[in-house]
Amino acid sequence: MSPSSAVFNLSLLRAGATLSLFIFLSIPRAALATNPFTGYAVDFPDPNDVIAGNFGGRFSGAVATTVEWAKNRAAYGPWSVTNKPVVAPSGDKHDYMSWAPYQWPDCSKAGNTTALSPSDMWKTCAYVFRDGQVNPDRETIKDFQAFSNLSDAVLYNSIAATLQNESSSVYSQNVAKFINTWFLDADTGMNPNLNYAQMNRGPNGQNGAYTGVLDLRGFAKIASGILILRKSGNTDWTADLDAKMIAWCNKYIDWLQTSPSGKTAGSSTNNHGTIFVNQLAGLKLIVKDVAGAVNLTQTYFSSTYKGQVAANGDQPQEATRTHPYHYRNFNIAGMITNARMLTYADPTSKPWNASSNGATIQTTIDFLMTTDPSVKDEQNNVAEIYPNIAAIASVYGDPDGKYVKFLNASGFPYADDATFLWDQPLAGGDLSTNTTSGGGSDGKSGKSGAIASGLGLLAHLGLPALFLLSVATQL
Ligand SMILES: *[C@@H]1O[C@H](CO)[C@@H](O)[C@H](O)[C@H]1NC(C)=O
Ligand SMILES: *[C@@H]1O[C@H](CO)[C@@H](O)[C@H](O)[C@H]1NC(C)=O
Ligand SMILES: *[C@@H]1O[C@H](CO)[C@@H](O)[C@H](O)[C@H]1NC(C)=O
Ligand SMILES: *[C@@H]1O[C@H](CO)[C@@H](O)[C@H](O)[C@H]1NC(C)=O
Ligand SMILES: *[C@@H]1O[C@H](CO)[C@@H](O)[C@H](O)[C@H]1NC(C)=O
Ligand SMILES: *[C@@H]1O[C@H](CO)[C@@H](O)[C@H](O)[C@H]1NC(C)=O
Ligand SMILES: *[C@@H]1O[C@H](CO)[C@@H](O)[C@H](O)[C@H]1NC(C)=O
Repeated sequence: MSPSSAVFNLSLLRAGATLSLFIFLSIPRAALATNPFTGYAVDFPDPNDVIAGNFGGRFSGAVATTVEWAKNRAAYGPWSVTNKPVVAPSGDKHDYMSWAPYQWPDCSKAGNTTALSPSDMWKTCAYVFRDGQVNPDRETIKDFQAFSNLSDAVLYNSIAATLQNESSSVYSQNVAKFINTWFLDADTGMNPNLNYAQMNRGPNGQNGAYTGVLDLRGFAKIASGILILRKSGNTDWTADLDAKMIAWCNKYIDWLQTSPSGKTAGSSTNNHGTIFVNQLAGLKLIVKDVAGAVNLTQTYFSSTYKGQVAANGDQPQEATRTHPYHYRNFNIAGMITNARMLTYADPTSKPWNASSNGATIQTTIDFLMTTDPSVKDEQNNVAEIYPNIAAIASVYGDPDGKYVKFLNASGFPYADDATFLWDQPLAGGDLSTNTTSGGGSDGKSGKSGAIASGLGLLAHLGLPALFLLSVATQL
C-alpha cells in the first residue's frame, strides 16, 4: 500500500466504523518490510540483550522479520530422526544419520546397480570420492535438513516469545514441542551421539566421519533460544523440560568429548575446530557449566584462532578451498559466535581484541571485503558476508561509515533483517526503515516495536491519540 492509498483509507476510516478492522490490520503490515527467510551459518544472540528487548522504533522491520521467520520455520516442524525412511546400520531408529556428500557408488565389482536393491548397494558397492560433486541420494535422509530447520525454529520462536510480553505464547509453545519431539520424547527422541553422521557407505564404511560433527552446529542457536526462555521465566519452558534437556545434553557432551569423531573435530585447525567450539560451548551453557564454556572459547582464541588468521586478515586454510568466499565467511561466523559466547559467559573477557599476527576478527572482515566472490564463481555466496559485517560493525564501531556504506551499496535491506536486532548499535535502521517516521524510541518500550511503527504512520496522519490506543490494544 502506498502512503497515498493509506491516506485515502484513513479518510474512509473517519467516516465508517465497519472499515476500521480492515484498515488497522492492513496499515501496519504494509508499513513493515520483512526479509525472506535466510538460514545463517551459526550465531549466538546474547540472551540478556534479547530479554532486555531494546527494540524500539528503528527496529520495527527487524522485529517483524523475526516474527515472520519464527512462523516460517515452525511450519515445517516438529522434526524427528525417527521420520527417515532408512534406519542407521545400528538398526536403531533413534540414531541420527546423514551420508557423506561427495561419495558415489562403484558397483563394478559387485554385480551392477540395476540388479542391486538400494540397501544392498549401500552395503556392498565400494564408494569413491568425487570432490565437490554432491550425490543427490543424500536427500533421501533429511536428518541434517531437519536439525538445521529445528535450530532456526528454536532461535526465532524464542526471540518472538520475548516480544509478546507474556509468559506463555504460541512461540514458546513451539519451542517446547520441538525440543521435546527431537530430543526427549521416548518414541521420537534422538540418541545422544553422531555415530552415523556423514557416514561413508560400502563394505569399508558404515560409520560416521568426524566431519559429520558439523551437522549439529545449530546447537549454538538452540543454546541461545533455551537460555532466552529459561532466563526470561517463560512458563512453557518448564522445570521438567529444562532438567530433561540438561540430562540429554550432558550425555551428548560426553560423546563429543570422548568419541573418535568428536575428538578429531575438536582438534581440527580449520573451520571444523572453530565451529566445534560453537557447538560444545553452547551445550556447556545449556547445562550451566559456564566455566567450561569460558575455558573452551578462551582456549579457541588463545590457540586455534592464532593458527587461522594471517597478518593481512586472510585465512589460509579456508582460502585454498573450492569455495573460499563461502568458507572464509563460514569460519568468521564461527569466530563471531565464539566471541559472543565468551562475552556472554564472561563479560570481563576480551575476545574481540584477540589477535593473530596482529589481526583481530575485524581484520578478517576487512580483508574479505576486498576480495571478489566472482573469482571462483561464488556470486551466489555473496550474501553470507552481510551478517558478518553487521556483527563486526556493531562491536568495533563504524566511525568512517565504511560498513554501512558496503551494506547499503549491496542493496541488502540489513536493517529489516532479524540479525539487526542483536547487531546493535550498527547504524542504518533509521535511514532505511523510517519511511513511516518511526514512532517510538530506542528505549525499553521495544516489545511493541512493530505496533509502534504502524502507530507512527497513523500519528503522522493526525489521528487522535485515544483512537490510536485502541488500535494498539486490538493488534
Ligand atoms: C528514525 O526514527 C528515530 C526514532 O525511532 C529517530 O531518532 C530518527 O531521527 C529517525 N530518522 C529519520 C531519518 O527520520
Ligand atoms: C545388471 O542387472 C540386470 C538386471 O538384473 C541384468 O539383466 C544385467 O545382465 C546385469 N548386467 C551386468 C553387466 O551384470
Ligand atoms: C527445511 O526448510 C526448507 C526451506 O528452507 C524446506 O525446503 C525443507 O523442506 C525443510 N526440511 C525439513 C525437513 O523441515
Ligand atoms: C507487559 O505486561 C505487564 C504485566 O501484564 C504490563 O504491566 C506492562 O504494561 C506490559 N508492557 C507492555 C509494553 O505491553
Ligand atoms: C581449560 O581447562 C584445561 C583442563 O582443565 C586447563 O588445562 C586449561 O588451562 C584451561 N584453559 C583455560 C584457558 O582456562
Ligand atoms: C580492545 O581493547 C582496548 C583496550 O583495552 C579497548 O579500549 C577496546 O574497546 C577493545 N575493543 C573491543 C572491540 O573490545
Ligand atoms: C544508501 O544508498 C542510498 C542510495 O541507494 C543513498 O541515498 C544513501 O545516502 C545511502 N546511505 C548511506 C548511509 O550510505
